[in-house]
Amino acid sequence: MITILSIESSCDDTSAAVIRDGLLLSNVTASQSVHEEFGGVVPELASRAHQQNIVPVVDAALRRAGVDKRELSAIAFTRGPGLLGSLLVGTSFAKGLALSLNIPLIEVNHLQGHVMAHFVHPADSMIAANPKLQGIEFRHPAFPFLCLLVSGGNSQIVLVESHTPYTVHHTPSMTILGQTIDDAAGEAFDKCAKVLGLPYPGGPWVDKLAQIGDPTRYPLAKPNIPGYDYSFSGLKTSFLYSLRDQMKAEGVETIDELAAKVPNLREDYCATLQTTVIDILMRKLKRAANDLGIRQVALAGGVSANSGLRAAMIDYAKRYHWQAFIPPFSFTTDNAAMIAQAAYYKFLDADFCPIDAVPYAKTTI
Ligand code: KG4
Repeated sequence: MITILSIESSCDDTSAAVIRDGLLLSNVTASQSVHEEFGGVVPELASRAHQQNIVPVVDAALRRAGVDKRELSAIAFTRGPGLLGSLLVGTSFAKGLALSLNIPLIEVNHLQGHVMAHFVHPADSMIAANPKLQGIEFRHPAFPFLCLLVSGGNSQIVLVESHTPYTVHHTPSMTILGQTIDDAAGEAFDKCAKVLGLPYPGGPWVDKLAQIGDPTRYPLAKPNIPGYDYSFSGLKTSFLYSLRDQMKAEGVETIDELAAKVPNLREDYCATLQTTVIDILMRKLKRAANDLGIRQVALAGGVSANSGLRAAMIDYAKRYHWQAFIPPFSFTTDNAAMIAQAAYYKFLDADFCPIDAVPYAKTTI
């Protein structure tokens, strides 16, 4: 029996999960509301909050799984990319626990974890205890597939293939076909939402207001980047300039004054922003799918919670005969279940890491 405890602490969510023989037994996450008043994640506060949360979160994950720590086969942790102070908390905790139990340590790349969310399969006991997981069909993409990975820190199109015929690896191989050359999609949502005076994180607010806004009201610039790469900084600037020009035209100084004069201002800007971001993301994804002749297409990362993006995936799937895969909401934002899944394959490959492994802030897959 292979039982792994995984820890995710790359940004502002402290999460722990337990997986046994490839089936998820528990996934517990503590989010940090401390950042809301600052309009963004404050790294120093994030590491402190991880320090406070990690013991109760790990304890709850083990209890919910009905697993004693002496039954664990390995401890997995997110090594990066992320905020270094946050990663250090999870890494140090994982090392301490692995040393004290004399079991191996497994490092997981956070972005690979997001892709692996598509292979998470909760055990029947976990589904029975969690109404949100009930009625969900846990389908897994077949290799090769494309994954659009969109989060607060990344926007990438990843080609996911099984191991090559010459290896026996259980961990799928991942190749980045394209990625953002500046801001990530989630960052564009969050930054534009901040300009509109919406709370942090802005992505879910944009999603909510977009549903009652007019997406054609304020046309925004679309980037022209070669290949499968993305760029969102021009869009962000165009959003800012459009608002600034409107404020000047109306003779007002603040966004609140403008919103008082222009009906549906925030809703229409959110709808325009969301439609533009989705269009940019989906066009490149479609191009990659066409070029490679791949029809298995998946969505991953925090931004895949966006209702417009989910609807666009389903629409493209119908139009272009794709099989689309969108993970359940609890496995799209940062969570330890996806880290546990990636770690399970690494365990099967005996791919362990040394006790002196150091977290990294930046890297891609
Ligand atoms: O993957 P994630 O939880 O954290 C990172 O690793 O970055 O993604 C967080 C990002 C934030 O930018 C947040 O605003 C965005 O995902 N997000 C959304 C929605 N829910 C979360 N963006 C648009 N619409 C949503 N419903």
